[in-house]
Amino acid sequence: NLPADLRGCRVLITAGGTREPIDPVRYLGNHSSGRQGYAFAETALARGAEVTVVSANVTLPDPAGATVRRVGSAAELREAVLQERSGADVIVMAAAVADFRPVNSAEGKLKKDGAQPQPVALAQNPDILAEISQDRTHSSQVVVGFAAETEDVLGNGRSKLAAKGCDLLVVNRVGEGRAFGTTDNQVAVLSADGSVADIPLSEKADIADRVWDSVVERVTNDAS
Ligand code: PMT
Repeated sequence: NLPADLRGCRVLITAGGTREPIDPVRYLGNHSSGRQGYAFAETALARGAEVTVVSANVTLPDPAGATVRRVGSAAELREAVLQERSGADVIVMAAAVADFRPVNSAEGKLKKDGAQPQPVALAQNPDILAEISQDRTHSSQVVVGFAAETEDVLGNGRSKLAAKGCDLLVVNRVGEGRAFGTTDNQVAVLSADGSVADIPLSEKADIADRVWDSVVERVTNDAS
């Protein structure tokens, strides 16, 4: 029996993994399934929120009752987030967004016949989480980011929280079959005030519910 404690709350959630085109048939991508982002959407809906999902290359069924906008690349995800964010009380950036994109996406399929393989030159993508955290559309907007780390998970998470300027950062260890594509995960939730909440191995829906509890606590404290 979930509380309807997000009733009247508008949330924007990114889910899935971006794909950066190399040519019409190839891309740089990652292993995100969108499960964690969709779990945030489904639990928020169950708790009464109005939910918009910016969904990057997710093949799961749409969360019933959510508005879903489909995007491919990091640039498209950024565009959609910037368009949708102004009405949002809470923004959760669960998508795995590419830090780099090929400088040029070839118009035709790259051929191998006889040619030497060419390096793919990369350019840096804008950091959307930092942008929306540091330039909020209203002062009470809560921004939740993620950090996918392979080592020094807490240390790198703390640095990322400070660099990006979000309110909460969910850090997870990735690689070796963890986090990406799984139905469960083990995370720590870092708060801008320095507190750390460990969430033991749990279903992604339970992780989302724990994070929503922290968001609700935050909103309630801010209001009092
Ligand atoms: O989708 P699943 O299979 O369920 O897997 C869940 C998950 C592993 C994808 C998820 O738990 C997760 O860790 N998502 C964030 C992955 C990621 O991109 O981490 P990062 O450390 O590279 O980025 C940190 C944060 O900045 C993220 O909130 C990301 O959305 C954001 N970012 C990153 C790069 C960029 N150019 N712009 C961003 O906004």
